[in-house]
Amino acid sequence: MTRTLVIIPTYNERESLPLQVDAVRAACPDVDILVADDASPDGTGAWADAQAAVDPQVHVLHRPGKHGLGAAYRAGFTWGLERGYDVLVEMDADGSHRAQDLPRVLSAPGEWDLSIGSRWVPGGAVENWPAHRRALSTGANTYVRILLGIPVRDATAGFRAYRASALRALDLDGVESQGYCFQIDMAWRVLQSGGRVVEVPITFVEREHGTSKMSGAIIREALVKVTAWGMRERATQVRRAFSKTSG
Ligand code: GDD
Ligand code: MN
Repeated sequence: MTRTLVIIPTYNERESLPLQVDAVRAACPDVDILVADDASPDGTGAWADAQAAVDPQVHVLHRPGKHGLGAAYRAGFTWGLERGYDVLVEMDADGSHRAQDLPRVLSAPGEWDLSIGSRWVPGGAVENWPAHRRALSTGANTYVRILLGIPVRDATAGFRAYRASALRALDLDGVESQGYCFQIDMAWRVLQSGGRVVEVPITFVEREHGTSKMSGAIIREALVKVTAWGMRERATQVRRAFSKTSG
């Protein structure tokens, strides 16, 4: 049997997390959940502890402070790999990633190493997002696709499932991205290590409780990093072309 771990990173999600944990447990009763909480001041971690005490399929990883989505996921992956899970899933706490879509992400057709719940493939959708968030996401994804030359439509998506073997094939500790750039970084690394990436349409629903942690610093990190990776990739291609013509 495939053992699946859903990792939910949290920072101040006291209102949303209970709903998301319930929804995931109901939609996929066999999967385990790991809440990776960055010492949320609003008591999210304490709620998760109480839930873990009554539900053996819920686990909690307490982190000392807010150090970004990337660091929380890296710690969560390490936790799951150490415990022998076969598939590791990323999902937001705020209900934007619907638990009802999880079975389809997990049972994506074909052989895959990374299955992305995608907003920007036919059948995918976004509900209740303001125009500026829509523009940011489509703009970022177009930039990534062109600069990195990858075929992924939603490389910034935070709803995805990794095969444990694909994570083991990467140097997880070498992933430096702090913020939501982590998502692009990981998709890019899976592809570069020869992994197969598929996209499954999902409906992303804007949160009803709490607030987004998206910030100018998170956007800047992604812009700077993607640009640097794109330049490096182009330089490598040029070098390869020259060594072919001269050799
Ligand atoms: N532990 C931890 N530490 N969790 C965090 C941190 C952090 O520093 N920052 C954010 N999170 C958690 C939130 O609590 C939530 O569960 C999830 O990460 C997503 O954060 P949101 O702030 O709700 O993100 P969003 O809705 O603005 O952005 C969505 O779209 C992005 C761009 O497409 C998410 O799906 C992102 O994953 C995605 O990259
Ligand atoms: Mn959100």
